[in-house]
Amino acid sequence: MMKTIVTFALTLMMATAAQAEGDIDAGKKTFGKCKSCHSVVSTDGDVLVKGGRTGPNLFGVIGREAGTADFKYSKTFVSLNETGLVWDEANFAAFVVDPRGFLKEQGTDGKTRMTFKLKKGGEDVAAFLASLAPAREAEEATEDAPEEAAAEAEATTATE
Ligand code: HEC
Repeated sequence: MMKTIVTFALTLMMATAAQAEGDIDAGKKTFGKCKSCHSVVSTDGDVLVKGGRTGPNLFGVIGREAGTADFKYSKTFVSLNETGLVWDEANFAAFVVDPRGFLKEQGTDGKTRMTFKLKKGGEDVAAFLASLAPAREAEEATEDAPEEAAAEAEATTATE
C-alpha cells in the first residue's frame, strides 16, 4: 500500500512539475504562428482554435503518440510513429525548435513537411495545448488509480 501511495505522489509531483514549466497564456499567443497550418478540434468536434489543415489537428497532442491524428503524414512521420514516440512537453519543445534535426535524432531521414521552426516558447505552446485537453488527462488519471488500488486491496486480503 505504501508503495502505491509513494508512486502516486511521485506521479502527481512529476505532472505538476511538467505543467509548471510552460506558460499557458504565452503559449496561446505563440500558437498564432502555428494556426496557419494547425487547428485544434476536440474529439466532439468543438473547434477550440480555428486554423489551417496543412498540418494535423493538435488536440490532445501532449500525451499522444506521434503521427496518430487523422492526417496524411509524410513517410518520415510514419517512421517516427514506428519508434513509439509519445509527445510530452520536453520532446514537443525540442521538435518545434528544429523539426528536421529532431527527426534525424530519432533515427528518421528528417524529411518532413513541417518546415516551420519556432525560435523559442515551445514549452509554452505545449502547456497551452495540454490545457485544451484536460479531460483526457483526468480520464487517464482516474483510469489508472482505482485499478491499482483495487489490485492492492486484493493483494492485502489474500495475504491476511
Ligand atoms: C507551414 C505549415 C506548418 C506550420 C506553420 C506549423 N506546422 Fe506543425 N506540422 C505541419 C505538417 C505538414 C505536419 C506533419 C508533418 C509530416 O507529415 O511530415 C506537422 C506536424 C506537427 C506536429 C506533429 C503532430 C503529430 O500528430 O504527431 C506537431 C507537434 C506540430 N506540427 C507542432 C507545430 C507547432 C507547435 C507549430 C507552431 C509553432 C507548428 N507546428 C507550425 C505543418 C506546419
